[in-house]
Amino acid sequence: MDKLDILKKWVEESDRIVFFGGAGVSTESGIADFRSVDGLYRQKFEYPPEVIISHSFYARKPEYFFNFYREKMLPLGFEPNITHQVLARWEAEGRLSAVVTQNIDGLHQKAGSQHVLELHGSVLRNYCTRCHKFHSAEFVKESTGIPRCNCGGIVKPDVVLYEESLNQDTIEQSVDAISKADLLIVAGTSLTVYPAAGLINYFQGNRLVLINRDETPYDYQANLVFHQSLGEIFAQL
Ligand code: OAD
Repeated sequence: MDKLDILKKWVEESDRIVFFGGAGVSTESGIADFRSVDGLYRQKFEYPPEVIISHSFYARKPEYFFNFYREKMLPLGFEPNITHQVLARWEAEGRLSAVVTQNIDGLHQKAGSQHVLELHGSVLRNYCTRCHKFHSAEFVKESTGIPRCNCGGIVKPDVVLYEESLNQDTIEQSVDAISKADLLIVAGTSLTVYPAAGLINYFQGNRLVLINRDETPYDYQANLVFHQSLGEIFAQL
């Protein structure tokens, strides 16, 4: 049996699949990832992007932060691709228990997925840091300079910046889903950012599948590895 047939068989036999993904899941929707040759972190800015999207930079230079955020981090108007769609279908069929994602673009939910654990938050949620009023992503996108609420407070996206902690409840739910999974598919992530990447160590099964264009530090732990584009694989699943 070739690798794809094995994966198809495993999917058919599973009812607690967990999909753990990153920026590579959305590149085929047109959103650049971070570490590929054309990724955000390979582009040249006045400061390294990892610095700009850190909490201390946000606190020190909010206007610069928001200009960068609106321009480079706020992907509005993109549509889910075949990978998002197949995952939503598996959930509806009762095969998949959770999507754990490092992405902040909301495309899994747009494709119809219900149980999505967003480790790094979402651009679709924005709150006033003073009165906690909710604001839409469009509100932030259309703002200039520092987005401000009617009350005068800064509107901050619910996105985890460097130096900030991940939501504890989201971590616990991810650990729970991964530790109970019968098939873990890890895809479109360089697995270099912690604590997110470390969560896959909670998997207890023996069907760990890794799908990523580039090699990852976890390839050696996987039971099946595909160095291919996600669209190519998911179109056949
Ligand atoms: P990276 O950019 O580090 O990794 C994306 C991976 O996806 C790369 O290894 C690519 O080879 C692969 N890839 C890209 N397109 C693909 C495709 N169509 N098919 C298959 N593989 C593809 O992105 P993440 O691992 O998600 O954090 O990055 C993790 C975190 O780093 C992000 O959540 C973000 C960033 O700093 C925060 O902003 C907190």
